[in-house]
Amino acid sequence: MARVIAIDGPSGAGKSSVSRLVGGRLGFLHVDSGALYRIMTWQCLEHGVDTSSEQAVAACARGVEVECRPEDGHIAYYVGGEPPGNRIRTPEINAHASPVATVKEVRDIVTALLRSMTRFGDLVVEGRDITTAVFPDSPARFYLTASAEARAMRRQKEEVEKGIANQSAEAVKASLLARDAIDSTRRHAPLRKADGALEIDSSDMTLDQVVETVLASLPKEWL
Ligand code: DC
Repeated sequence: MARVIAIDGPSGAGKSSVSRLVGGRLGFLHVDSGALYRIMTWQCLEHGVDTSSEQAVAACARGVEVECRPEDGHIAYYVGGEPPGNRIRTPEINAHASPVATVKEVRDIVTALLRSMTRFGDLVVEGRDITTAVFPDSPARFYLTASAEARAMRRQKEEVEKGIANQSAEAVKASLLARDAIDSTRRHAPLRKADGALEIDSSDMTLDQVVETVLASLPKEWL
């Protein structure tokens, strides 16, 4: 059976960097579950769907075909044969992703896709409900967090470096807090620390320290 390391936490807590590095160290494939919610959001916007209509969002999501392929240590996604790239990282997608992710049918589609990925091998899966709903039985579950200021600074730097946007740290913080509020209060699979998950506050930690903390907490036979 494939082994799964599950990492949840709010936006900008460092889940992607940590998951990539942990996956690289162990030879586990990195899975970015947020990208799947972003793909659903992008497709809704492309098709002119009103993202405040649950029915319209669900109908659109049912028609989205995402091809998943293991590539360079991660699971890559293709829609219509193309990788979505930075089209799913814009401020517009940021603003619509949380409402889309509240829709139960969208969550069911993404959850089924994520569970099916164990066919590719061992995984490090990051998201908001991986430890609570998608892989709640994994013996390696983490809740990664950081102060809102630290998270906003990291996200803003990343957006500028990748040429995605040039927003102020304040604007990034406001958008990130708005998403966290929706993600943690929604009815289906809200963001919360799972019982038994190890909480790591990365505000004053280096990336390496977080990676080492995760590795040190894994079942010994996984190393
Ligand atoms: O991690 P991210 O910012 O790329 O996530 C995009 C959106 O998807 C965000 O609003 C949270 C939501 N999400 C979720 O509800 N469940 C997950 N497992 C991953 C992301």
